[in-house]
Amino acid sequence: MTIGVVRETAPGETRVALVPGDVPALITAAGAVSIEAGAGLHAGYPDDEYAAKGATISDRSGVLGTADCLLTVRSAAANGGTGVEDVRAMKRGAALVGFLEPYAPHPSFAAIAESGLRAFSMERIPRITRAQSMDALSSQANLAGYRAVLVAAQDLPRAFPMMMTAAGTVVPARVFIVGVGVAGLQAIATARRLGAVVSAYDIRPAVKEQVESLGARFVEMDLETESSETSGGYARAMDDAFYARQRELMASVVADSDVVITTAAVPGKRAPVLITEAMVHRMRPGSVVVDLAAERGGNCDVTRPGETVYCGASRVIGVVNVPSSIAYHASQLYSRNITTFVRSIVTEGEFSYSRDDEVVAATLVIENGHAPDAEIASVLQVAATSEGEEA
Ligand code: NAI
Repeated sequence: MTIGVVRETAPGETRVALVPGDVPALITAAGAVSIEAGAGLHAGYPDDEYAAKGATISDRSGVLGTADCLLTVRSAAANGGTGVEDVRAMKRGAALVGFLEPYAPHPSFAAIAESGLRAFSMERIPRITRAQSMDALSSQANLAGYRAVLVAAQDLPRAFPMMMTAAGTVVPARVFIVGVGVAGLQAIATARRLGAVVSAYDIRPAVKEQVESLGARFVEMDLETESSETSGGYARAMDDAFYARQRELMASVVADSDVVITTAAVPGKRAPVLITEAMVHRMRPGSVVVDLAAERGGNCDVTRPGETVYCGASRVIGVVNVPSSIAYHASQLYSRNITTFVRSIVTEGEFSYSRDDEVVAATLVIENGHAPDAEIASVLQVAATSEGEEA
């Protein structure tokens, strides 16, 4: 059995799905690993390092045509790239593993079903203890939280740490983190390491203790948040009145901050709008908002993905695909996630998994032309219909 890895083709994507260090483990499980020449170059992993670990270096069509299991980051999904062509070049019955964006009806999703591939979506790894080492959303969000703080520090015309110098005292930057999931926690830790004074807020009350254990202040707000957390630990979508009240209560904290990093998200929904243009205008000149939710609609009403929007002398930076800007380590962690996953479904050169397995049941989004999950089945139907109309 051959595990294949191709160069990512989505615009701006610099990660690679497998790093050389994980090649031997996959050769042991599957038999062989075939990598497209140059696949790891942008992330800092040259071909000779893969070859030294036993991988075969090939051209793209060679990898696609021989792979029984193709590992990707995002190249099979929407937003440009060569998704559909790649999918059509693969063998029937082969597996495709990666961030497949199964909630968006993109063309390659329909092609996956038509081509008789089985598709495993890394977005859907369940957050259970056994699957922690496969949790790619967390590994990438953690790095994104770190990087967001550096983006802000780079743009802010102030220093983060307090400095007492012969020329006078520099006061520390005030950083406010909105949304304290995986990215938010790392953003707090990073801003603290840089010496900022950090405060944070999340609608899940359980987070308060975590915020305080990282040396930040939890901002208390008079909001009814008892029902804000699902049994799975995620935030629930609240109504417009709730968000309006939250914006009102947050306005003075935002105005008092030099940097705001927003990471608030509700699974399967547009990100809530928590910061308005007027709130950004009230910040001190030069202040920076980094919106990590930009790809999910944005936590600020002015956010534009991939752009910086000025509100007076302050600005909102709509960062996108942040893990790609730290591609070496993002690839290293993603590679370990995907390798652990593949080793759970491949043994002695063959696929060996049960659909009853919790991890397989969640991630196997398409098999034999069908989507076992009802929600994804309807997305697939939309994708197939729009493809038919285009043809
Ligand atoms: P996410 O990316 O879905 O959302 C980010 C944060 O935004 C969440 O903490 C959420 O509560 C918050 N949020 C939503 N609406 C908000 C609002 N109106 N105001 C302020 N904050 C708001 O979250 P992520 O990072 O995926 O984590 C979700 C949960 O999963 C957390 O409880 C986390 O601890 C848990 N988790 C569990 C893991 C495991 O058990 N293996 C691994 C990783 C995360």
